[in-house]
Amino acid sequence: MKKPQEFKYLSYPQAILVVGTYDREGRPNIAPVALGGMCSHRPPLLFVSLRAATLTHRNIVERQAFTVNVPSSEYIVETDYAGQVSGRDHDKFADCGLTPLRSERVDAPLILEFPTAAECRLAQTVDVGSHTMFIGEIVHLQGDAAISTADLSYLRKDLTDLPDMVQAGGFVYAVTAEGRCYVGLGEVLGRAYRLGRELRDKS
Ligand SMILES: Cc1cc2nc3c(=O)[nH]c(=O)nc-3n(C[C@H](O)[C@H](O)[C@H](O)COP(=O)(O)O)c2cc1C
Repeated sequence: MKKPQEFKYLSYPQAILVVGTYDREGRPNIAPVALGGMCSHRPPLLFVSLRAATLTHRNIVERQAFTVNVPSSEYIVETDYAGQVSGRDHDKFADCGLTPLRSERVDAPLILEFPTAAECRLAQTVDVGSHTMFIGEIVHLQGDAAISTADLSYLRKDLTDLPDMVQAGGFVYAVTAEGRCYVGLGEVLGRAYRLGRELRDKS
C-alpha cells in the first residue's frame, strides 16, 4: 500500500551533472546538480536548476554559458565535495585535482577527466521557485574516445558517439534505505524501445 509523503520531492534515481562556469575573474568553478537533464532534442536543450545563492548561478547569468559534465564513479568523492563548498571560498578544480579545459564554443570550462561534456549557450532563464532553471542549448558535445562502445549500430547515428556510461562507471543519485546515496549503474536490463515491442504489437 502507498502512503502519502509529507516532503514533496519525487525520489527516483537521478543523474548527477557537474556544472562548469567561470567567475568574474575568469576562475573556473564546478558544482554538482541533481536537478537537471535534457528537455528538448531539436533544438538540443539541457536544463540545470540552481539556487540563487550559488556562485554557479551568478556565473551563468554573467557569462551566459555553462558546461554540463557527467562524472564517473572514479570521481564520486570529488563530485560530492564540490556540492558542499562554494567556489567563492575554494578553488574546487585544484582541491579535486581536476583539469579545467577551455571550451571550444562557449565561455565556460570543461572537466578533462569526466567522460562526457556538453558546452551550453544560455537559451532561457526561468524562475521556477526555490531554484532558477537555466536552459542551455548544447552547441558542442564531447565524449571520451577511450571508452569504447560495443555494437551500437542499432542506435541512431547521433547516439553512436556517446560513451557507454555503464562501462565508464556511471552512477546515479537516489534515496535508499541508507538515506541519500550515490548508486552505481548495474547491469543493463534491456534495450529501450525494444522490451515493450511485443506488448505494443499485441495492443
Ligand atoms: C548530490 C548533490 C546534488 C545537488 N543538487 C543541486 C541542485 O540541483 N541545485 C542546486 O542549486 N544545488 C545543488 N546542490 C548543491 C550545490 O552543488 C552547492 O550549493 C554548491 O556548493 C554550489 O557551489 P558554488 O557556490 O561554487 O556554485 C547539490 C549538491 C549535491 C551534493
